[in-house]
Amino acid sequence: MRKKVTVIGSGNVGATTAMRVAEKELADVVLIDILEGVPAGKALDLAEAAPIESHDSRITGVTNDYSHAKESDIVIVTAGIPRKPGMSRDDLLTTNAGIVGSVVKEISTVAPDSILIIVSNPLDAMCHVAFETSGFDKKKVIGMAGVLDSARFRAFIAMELNVSVENTHAFVLGAHGDTMVPLPRYSTVAGIPVTELMSAERIEAIVERTRKGGGEIVSLLKTGSAYYAPASAVMEMAEAILKDKKKILPCVAYLQGEYGINNLFIGVPVKLGSAGIEEIIEIKLTEQENEALQRSAKAVQGLVDDLKRLG
Ligand code: NAI
Ligand code: 2OP
Repeated sequence: MRKKVTVIGSGNVGATTAMRVAEKELADVVLIDILEGVPAGKALDLAEAAPIESHDSRITGVTNDYSHAKESDIVIVTAGIPRKPGMSRDDLLTTNAGIVGSVVKEISTVAPDSILIIVSNPLDAMCHVAFETSGFDKKKVIGMAGVLDSARFRAFIAMELNVSVENTHAFVLGAHGDTMVPLPRYSTVAGIPVTELMSAERIEAIVERTRKGGGEIVSLLKTGSAYYAPASAVMEMAEAILKDKKKILPCVAYLQGEYGINNLFIGVPVKLGSAGIEEIIEIKLTEQENEALQRSAKAVQGLVDDLKRLG
């Protein structure tokens, strides 16, 4: 049977994700937005590229019609507003909570067996909204952040050492925000830890650039935030699930005691397969790394508490 991925929000991240999923022939794609014409127009444009890109994925775009999401294997939520210069991801909190809550409510009715990949910011808090609104099992509510943040870390390592990006591996844990926790000890080039290849000062500079990677793009674009790398990150997660790859990726998952963190969504290494998050992997952290992760968890908890307070 053909696989089906629904992408909610046909803006920059949503449309680019639809393109990546279709071009890899991972699934048929449904794009949903509140805008009239835009999802249908982008879907048709992508379908007209298919003969040249040589794929047979079917792409449909609809406005507010959730019946098309029926029997989706994966639903990717990118609906919301993006950051403008001077805004933090947290400034988006209440607006995007309303949007994410409303779209997830529709999905839990029409596609109750789907796996949710949440993209809208502030990411970790939006995962809470999606989890509580959907009532889905915690394995089936997954946030995209660590794959993107790790890809940025990898790109900067490759630029610094003038090596192939394919030689690089990196891990970024914690919240998708300024408190994220890049882990140089677990980041390697051809299996060699970067701590052996770069000075502590250069590593710190790359870590800092990674933490501010989203903001760097916002300040260059001025009218929105990154979307090419975010769409690639979502596609990698979707591929791992659709092909049951059992791939270990840093994703935002609901923790219940792992890493000493309770009832909170935050970025950790997980195994992704057809059931969603099939395992949360607990790696050994130094005292300093653990302190950074706990600080990051505190920041997410603050946002979740704000959401509850603001109702
Ligand atoms: P965008 O503005 O280009 O697209 C958002 C789309 O959502 C628009 O087409 C809008 O009409 C639609 N939308 C708004 N309310 C809706 C509703 N109720 N139902 C359906 N569609 C609705 O924004 P972009 O750049 O695509 O970013 C989307 C979200 O993803 C933002 O919140 C952004 O901050 C976040 N993001 C998160 C990343 C991550 O690493 N987790 C990376 C990049 C973006
Ligand atoms: C990013 O990291 C804005 O969260 C988005 O690019």
